[in-house]
Amino acid sequence: MTEENGVADLPKIELHLHLEGAAPPDFIRRLAQEKGVNLARIFGEDGTYAYRDFVHFLDVYEAATEVLKTPEDFARLTTAVLEESARNGVIYTEAFLSPDFCGGRDVGAWREYLHAIREAAEAAERQHGVTMRGIVTCIRHFGPDKARETALCAAETAGDWLTGFGMGGDEAKGRQGDFAYSFDMAREAGLRLTTHAGEWGGPDSVRQALTELRGIERLGHGVRAIEDPRLVEELAEAGTVLECCPGSNVKLGLYPSVAKHPIERLRAAGVKVTVSTDDPPFFHATMRREYEDLSRAFGWDAEVLTELNETAAEAAFCDAETRARLKQRLRAAPA
Ligand code: ADE
Ligand code: ZN
Repeated sequence: MTEENGVADLPKIELHLHLEGAAPPDFIRRLAQEKGVNLARIFGEDGTYAYRDFVHFLDVYEAATEVLKTPEDFARLTTAVLEESARNGVIYTEAFLSPDFCGGRDVGAWREYLHAIREAAEAAERQHGVTMRGIVTCIRHFGPDKARETALCAAETAGDWLTGFGMGGDEAKGRQGDFAYSFDMAREAGLRLTTHAGEWGGPDSVRQALTELRGIERLGHGVRAIEDPRLVEELAEAGTVLECCPGSNVKLGLYPSVAKHPIERLRAAGVKVTVSTDDPPFFHATMRREYEDLSRAFGWDAEVLTELNETAAEAAFCDAETRARLKQRLRAAPA
């Protein structure tokens, strides 16, 4: 049913993609070889990333970034990632970028990395028609002090391309409010805000994001809000957009299958949901596969998935002209 109803071929908007997390294992292995770094420990026998659980996943993820050392490495990574996005019919992607891995949160170094990433993204746009915008992300388990340095990098480079600020990392570490200063700095610089919540934390973590930080428009995941019906109503009323990544949640063991994932119940309750891959090679995920799996699990057809893409276009951290162009491309596609 899925392949036949053509959902995999739809044009897609992806709002939640970690740039380093999208690095194909072969790409990281090649860089490791070039730089003489031994990263064998992070790969399984089949050559893919190997991890036991969420915290180990974060370890493996950070180990892989050890070979991403120069702006040129990040430019090559951006090219590889956007080629894969284009192969999946993605027309617009927002990538989480981490100054932690790009020059150790030094503003001057960060500018060079950002310049290289942006140049590679603009070349990919000319070649493949996929548009990218950047969201600087701080890493929760690195703590609030490092987050402030990250936010300064973000604030200093905020503009038409670097348009957002967010936070990923281990939700078990600290409260959202510990990072309020960083989010305030980013917001005051004109950046739009999202934060990971309601992935490993329960509904309380979602409430923290909405009450302890000001101006959060979207939530990374947010899906565990489903455990509190009142919170679901509040999200629907507020129009908070969830960046759902069903394949990531299933592979990390949050839900046993896509069919058991709450995305459909959240949508039915009027919450604005969107679909992304998070860290695709870690989860053997692609955007095409996400659409096929959702179609198979919930009977979603091209109309439903186009509606989700329209929600994503509305929620994208981009300028009005880019948004209008995206909406036009979504509508121009056969639905
Ligand atoms: N960083 C990369 N992927 C992540 C995830 N799924 N949750 C939190 N932080 C992350
Ligand atoms: Zn994420």
